[in-house]
Amino acid sequence: MERVISGIRPTGNLHLGNYFGAVKSFVKMQDEYDCMFFIADWHSLTTHPTPENIRSSVKTILSEYLACGIDPEKAPIYVQSDVKQVLELYLYLNMNAYLGELERVTSFKEKVRKQPDNVNAGLLTYPCLMAADILMHKADKVPVGKDQEQNMEMARLFARRFNRIYNVEYFKEPASFYFADKAVKVPGLDGTGKMGKSEGNCLYLCDDEKTVTKKIMRAVTDQGPTQLNQEKPEVIQNLFTLCELLSGKEAADYYNDLYNRMEIRYGDMKKQMAADANTLLAPIRERILAYSSDDALLEKIMRQGAEAAAERAEKTIEEVREIIGFRKI
Ligand code: AMP
Ligand code: TRP
Repeated sequence: MERVISGIRPTGNLHLGNYFGAVKSFVKMQDEYDCMFFIADWHSLTTHPTPENIRSSVKTILSEYLACGIDPEKAPIYVQSDVKQVLELYLYLNMNAYLGELERVTSFKEKVRKQPDNVNAGLLTYPCLMAADILMHKADKVPVGKDQEQNMEMARLFARRFNRIYNVEYFKEPASFYFADKAVKVPGLDGTGKMGKSEGNCLYLCDDEKTVTKKIMRAVTDQGPTQLNQEKPEVIQNLFTLCELLSGKEAADYYNDLYNRMEIRYGDMKKQMAADANTLLAPIRERILAYSSDDALLEKIMRQGAEAAAERAEKTIEEVREIIGFRKI
């Protein structure tokens, strides 16, 4: 069976970008593939070097994964820092990764701009750690949002390079997976590019009903079209993208038609989006509350996940040591 791996950093609550970009795929894939999902707590140190409370952030994401429908019986869930073998593979990948190519990664350049006082080596080698997470499991498919495409290319590059350097056919090149057959980029409620924690434009899975409605009703729009079949400005295109994700293609087509006829009322469209968002989120919200108060269950899931991941990781590391020529331990 094809293997699947993916993870998210515990740097805040999950939002609709995470849901439609990644977690919805996780839930779908667990029935058809050999999946494992994890919480990338080491990665979070690249942007949050002194985490306030890493343990509770990890549990937050775990509760949210479970609330979205990931079933640990089908797909083990583990915490990245529980599986130390990843570090060894990270080290080997770092040795074959070059400064120039790491510096050219867009998300690295973006972080240099955003946190000029903390351009740490972990940020630079972020793609190496991510590749270690993936190659460790010999994953075939990795469900991620569009923004991870370059990191995925790096993972493929590192896999190829390892094989070439050691003259083996060992690592597979992992493919990105999108549930909708094309990369998903969920726009922010402020009409700008991407919904993201640091942008302050998110709808969180744990937002209550009133907050959901308020945020959507306040989503940025314009004065409306002034010509028939007018091309949509970015903010409106983004609203339609969100509408299609929340209310479905038929609803988005219906409002698109009204837009083209200059009869659209954004308020009506948003009302439907808010209602559909609440229908989607109400049960998730309820389950987040239930899971997050069941500490014993969360601990058990993390322990079992770590065991399953470590077993696989240990096998990979033994083989990699053998390929490179280190002693068997
Ligand atoms: P992050 O929240 O940046 O740690 O991302 C975690 C996962 O969610 C990654 O797979 C991202 O690609 C995905 N993701 C985050 N925000 C978005 C977004 N606005 N659109 C699509 N995918 C996203
Ligand atoms: N880079 C991913 C993000 O920001 C998180 C991540 C770390 C990841 N390691 C991974 C995703 C391995 C998929 C596979 O969201």
